[in-house]
Amino acid sequence: MFSKRFNYNTEENKLSALLKDKKSAGISVLDLMESNPTNAGFDFDEAGILNAVSKSESLKYLPHPKGLKTARKAVAQYYKEKNIEINIDNIFLTSGTSEAYSFIFKLLTDPGDEILIPNPGYPLFSFIAEMESVNIKNYKLKYSDGNFWSIDFESLKSGIADKTKAVIIVNPNNPAGNYIKAKEINELLRICREHKIAVICDEVFLDYPVESDRKNIFSVAGINYVLTFTLSGLSKICGLPQMKLSWIIVGGPKKECNEAKEKLEIITDTYLSVGAPVQLAVGSLLVNRDFIQAQIKDRILRNYEFLKSELIANEFADLMKTDGGWYAVLKIKIKISEENMAFEMLEKKDVYIHPGFFFDFKDEGYIVVSLLTPAENFNTGIKRILEYLNNFK
Ligand SMILES: Cc1ncc(COP(=O)(O)O)c(C=O)c1O
Repeated sequence: MFSKRFNYNTEENKLSALLKDKKSAGISVLDLMESNPTNAGFDFDEAGILNAVSKSESLKYLPHPKGLKTARKAVAQYYKEKNIEINIDNIFLTSGTSEAYSFIFKLLTDPGDEILIPNPGYPLFSFIAEMESVNIKNYKLKYSDGNFWSIDFESLKSGIADKTKAVIIVNPNNPAGNYIKAKEINELLRICREHKIAVICDEVFLDYPVESDRKNIFSVAGINYVLTFTLSGLSKICGLPQMKLSWIIVGGPKKECNEAKEKLEIITDTYLSVGAPVQLAVGSLLVNRDFIQAQIKDRILRNYEFLKSELIANEFADLMKTDGGWYAVLKIKIKISEENMAFEMLEKKDVYIHPGFFFDFKDEGYIVVSLLTPAENFNTGIKRILEYLNNFK
C-alpha cells in the first residue's frame, strides 16, 4: 500500500533508544549534541520577537509565490550588509532550508537523477533525496592539519556522470566546519560550468566563524557564472527554527537563471508554505539578529577554546580544526569503535555524543559534539569523555 521510499531500516538506533530510556527514567544526561538554540539557555528578546510576529496585517491573506515583497527586501538587506546586491526578484521564501532543498531537487531532477553531496556531511540530504526520488552520490572532503577540511576535487570529478544535476556545498559544512575558499569556489564553478551542473550552497551557518578570519568568508549568493541556489534562513541566523522562514537565492547566467525562476515559481506557488506573521516579522528579526548572534558566537568560541585547551597534546584525541559553524569533530587516536564509545559514554557516564558515522564519516574514530551546548554541561561532558578515554591506558 505504501511507497517504496520507506524501504530502509526505520528502527530506532541503540543510542537514541538508550537516551529515551534514560530521560524517561529521570536520569540527568549531559546532551553534548544540543543543537536547538531555543533550548540552549540563550536570552531571547522576548518582547521584540512577540511584537514582530503580531502585526495586524497578518489578518489579511496576500499570497505571493516568492513571498511578500517586504520580506524579500529584508533578506536583500541582510546581503547588502555583506556588500552583496541581490535583486528581490531572485529571492524565494520557503518554510525551511529542508523544504528549499526539496523544491530545488524538484526543479532540477527527474527520478533517478543524481546530486553530489559532501562527505562527511549533514545526514538530512539522504532523506530529502529519497522523498524526491533522487539518487545521491558522495564526494569526499579531505582534512589536512592546519588547513581544515576542503573539497577533494578528484573525488568530486570522478562522481560526475550524465545524470548529475547539481553539487551541494555547505558553507561552512556541518559538522566538518570548513568554509568554501576562493580557490575552491573558482575550481568548483569551472567544473560545474563544463558539465552544465548547478551549485546548491547551504549557508545557514555563514555568520558563525570559529577559527576563520572574517575576510576569508564569502557568500555564494550573487555568483552568476553558473546556475547557483544559495540557501539560508532564520533558523540559524536568528536562532529561531520554530519561525519557519528560509530562502533560496537564484543566481546564474541570464537565460538559465530566468528559466529556473519561472519554474521555481510554479513550485512555490503550488505550496505557498510560508505564513504571513513570520513574513511580516522577518525584517525586524533580521535587523535585531546581533542580540542573539553575539550570545551564540560567544558560546561556540568559548566551547571551542575549552576543547583546544583540553586536547592540546592529548594522547587519546585530537581536535579537528573548525573554520566555522556550530559543531566540533574529535578524532580518537586509539583503536576503539566510535559506536561503542558513544553508547558507553551515555550508558556509563550519562554523556550524549554522536559517533562520526551518523555524519557518514567513512573511517572509524570520529566523535561529533555541538558547540551550542551550555558551557557548564560542555566542560563537564568533555572531561568525562577524556576520563573514559584515559581508561584505555
Ligand atoms: C547544514 C544544515 N542545513 C539545513 C538545516 C535545516 O535548517 P532549517 O531549519 O532551515 O530547515 C540544518 C539544520 O541543522 C543544517 O545543519
